[in-house]
Amino acid sequence: MRFVFLGAPGSGKGTQAGVISQRLGIAHVATGDLFREAVSKGGELGREAKTYMEKGLLVPDEITIRMLLERIVAPDCRKGYILDGFPRTLEQARALDLALAEREEAVGRVLYIKVSTEELVRRLSGRLICRDCQTPYHQVASPPKVAGKCDQCGGELYQRPDDNPETVRKRLDVYFAETAPLIDHYKEAGRLVEIDGEGDIEKIGQEAITTLTKD
Ligand code: AP5
Ligand code: MG
Ligand code: ZN
Repeated sequence: MRFVFLGAPGSGKGTQAGVISQRLGIAHVATGDLFREAVSKGGELGREAKTYMEKGLLVPDEITIRMLLERIVAPDCRKGYILDGFPRTLEQARALDLALAEREEAVGRVLYIKVSTEELVRRLSGRLICRDCQTPYHQVASPPKVAGKCDQCGGELYQRPDDNPETVRKRLDVYFAETAPLIDHYKEAGRLVEIDGEGDIEKIGQEAITTLTKD
């Protein structure tokens, strides 16, 4: 079970990967979460990543690929994992294929979560995430049980600095230019499965699990 969740900023990759990884008993590996953790720790990786993230740009492939490949050999990835937000460029997709092939492994299904641009903007402007475990919430669509607190861990909720209107626009441009081509890439490889990412969060999750696990 090695899955990739592909979709624009705000399409629900993190929301769905969080729930589905728990249900399937596999790891949830989100490069955005890993970079935010590095930023909050304040080391060299974090300092470098921050300069790109705050502008809505992709962190260079070399840095991102190295971090991801180190992460997926951790013990919690042995049973499988969901990659959320990686790969984001053709170069990253090729590096992943190559590294897995060396271990006689391969990526399984790639779930493309499709959402209209107007809906993406609406979602990102109302998002809050947990400072400790990075679970996403939405002020209207998916509020926490207790205002300002994470349902999962009780952590404090905050707005991501890159969720301001200007940076959201940039992230969407970058997505369409650099990441959207991966849809065709994985379609040609016969790995792409697509779901409608608009509607009830729980129902989308059910459909995603069915789509990912059917023969
Ligand atoms: P990253 O953290 O990956 O951000 P992103 O791709 O912009 O995606 P988001 O996290 O914004 O959206 P999501 O799809 O996870 O949506 P969510 O579930 O939260 O990356 C951040 C930055 O890190 C990048 O800009 C880049 O700089 C760097 N980076 C990361 N990976 C990289 C890589 N591979 N290469 C290079 N650089 C990289 O949901 C959004 C909102 O909608 C939430 O409020 C949620 O509650 C709500 N919602 C979810 N589902 C529904 C629904 N069905 N109906 C209504 N609301 C919903
Ligand atoms: Mg996310
Ligand atoms: Zn939390």
